[in-house]
Amino acid sequence: MFNRHAIVEKHSMLLLVGILIVVAIGGLVEIAPLFWLESTIEKVQGMRPYSPLELAGRDIYVREGCYLCHSQMIRSLRDEVERYGHYSLAAESMYDHPFQWGSKRTGPDLARVGGKYSDDWHVAHLINPRSVVPESIMPGYPFLASAPLDTSTIVDKLKAQRMVGVPYTDDMIANAVADIARQINPDFKGGADFLKRYPKAQQRSFSGDPNEAKEIDALIAYLQMLGTLVDFAKYDESGPNLR
Ligand code: HEC
Repeated sequence: MFNRHAIVEKHSMLLLVGILIVVAIGGLVEIAPLFWLESTIEKVQGMRPYSPLELAGRDIYVREGCYLCHSQMIRSLRDEVERYGHYSLAAESMYDHPFQWGSKRTGPDLARVGGKYSDDWHVAHLINPRSVVPESIMPGYPFLASAPLDTSTIVDKLKAQRMVGVPYTDDMIANAVADIARQINPDFKGGADFLKRYPKAQQRSFSGDPNEAKEIDALIAYLQMLGTLVDFAKYDESGPNLR
């Protein structure tokens, strides 16, 4: 047995192949079961797909590269939890394609920024961050305030999200364009049905004009809902297995 082991030790290629086989077995044992487990991501009450306006805002967030300076994942470390709130759950990014965890924090984590500031603060901050945070190095995005939101692709966006597993219903897809108007204007016809489709969605004009959605409305709708869907008072009380 030990004599034969000498063969492996004298032939580096053989040793390399041996190492690769052993490491591959380790990897398979760790990773493969995740593909067959019924719930790799635990189900958490409150999570729902993004409303069309929030989804459009999320696309603007990606388009403008906000993720290059902002993360959206609060780690389970004491300093992070004290600063940002409850650590992020996997389920909170289950409808994110692609996820926005980020790898750099030039600015603060945004996973729970929803509700932290008023809409007016966000409008002023996005147009010129220095107007509300004098020492800020964040770039301004003033054009978002005047650019009308392009709604011509929203139906296709919902359909694409459905193809990768987000549970958008036919009803949600058929109503996508009108639901944008319903979210910025609660008086728009069918405003109550909108809330049935997207529970807890915030329905108001985010930048002040309820009649025309601007890009800034979509982005603020997205920022204001970040981290607000899961009720952590309930979640912590019943433990992580709440169904
Ligand atoms: C060059 C890096 C950079 C980019 C790009 C950037 N930010 Fe920021 N952001 C910062 C910094 C630094 C701060 C902290 C100072 C401040 O509040 O302005 C910040 C703060 C914020 C805050 C306040 C967070 C809090 O908890 O106080 C929000 C919201 C925000 N950014 C949103 C955005 C959005 C949306 C975009 C994309 C349109 C974006 N940022 C792009 C650097 C950046």
